Amino acid sequence: MRLGALQRIHRGRLREILDATAVFRPDEVTVALEVFDDALTGDYEFLGGFDNDDLIAYACFGATPGTDRTFDLYWIAVHPSAQRHGDGSQLLGEVEQRLRERGARLLIAETSSRADYDATRRFYLARGYQEVARMRDYYAVGDDRVIYTKALAP
Ligand SMILES: CC(C)(COP(=O)(O)OP(=O)(O)OC[C@H]1O[C@@H](n2cnc3c(N)ncnc32)[C@H](O)[C@@H]1OP(=O)(O)O)[C@@H](O)C(=O)NCCC(=O)NCCS
Repeated sequence: MRLGALQRIHRGRLREILDATAVFRPDEVTVALEVFDDALTGDYEFLGGFDNDDLIAYACFGATPGTDRTFDLYWIAVHPSAQRHGDGSQLLGEVEQRLRERGARLLIAETSSRADYDATRRFYLARGYQEVARMRDYYAVGDDRVIYTKALAP
């Protein structure tokens, strides 16, 4: 997979990837697209993963306001047809590397405790993230918010 910048023309394909993953609710897809639309303000950064010229994966990240060099991974998604081939790891590795080069200290990833996010939680654990907090019933009753961190600074 080739990594590269995302542009406005990728918006439709980005929606296809988010819909196809089948884990995000429609309102969450809407938020992800709003964040993409706001990207030009500079608060969020996007990195795309391409198979030839086809967008197959993307990550969205940015500095966490009010913190000392903490960053949030706001979104990461790989099209289901391309999952389990290491593309998610490659993408996340590149995000981490770019942040390290800028002196970032901590990267935060959050996900849900629902069973359909099992693979996602395994993905973060396999990439060296540690579960540091769980907020019970945060998203809905029985659906906790699970927070992972990874130290980027040595
Ligand atoms: C999470 C996600 C980005 C991972 O991308 P990916 O390209 O499939 O990940 P990789 O191929 O690099 O997999 C790395 C590791 O993650 C874990 N993993 C990923 N998918 C898994 C699955 N279906 N079952 C079990 N483990 C899985 C494994 O540990 C895997 O390593 P292995 O293949 O050597 O066993 C992708 O599954 C995805 O887009 N999921 C839906 C969206 C989502 O949940 N995003 C994060 C929340 S914002």
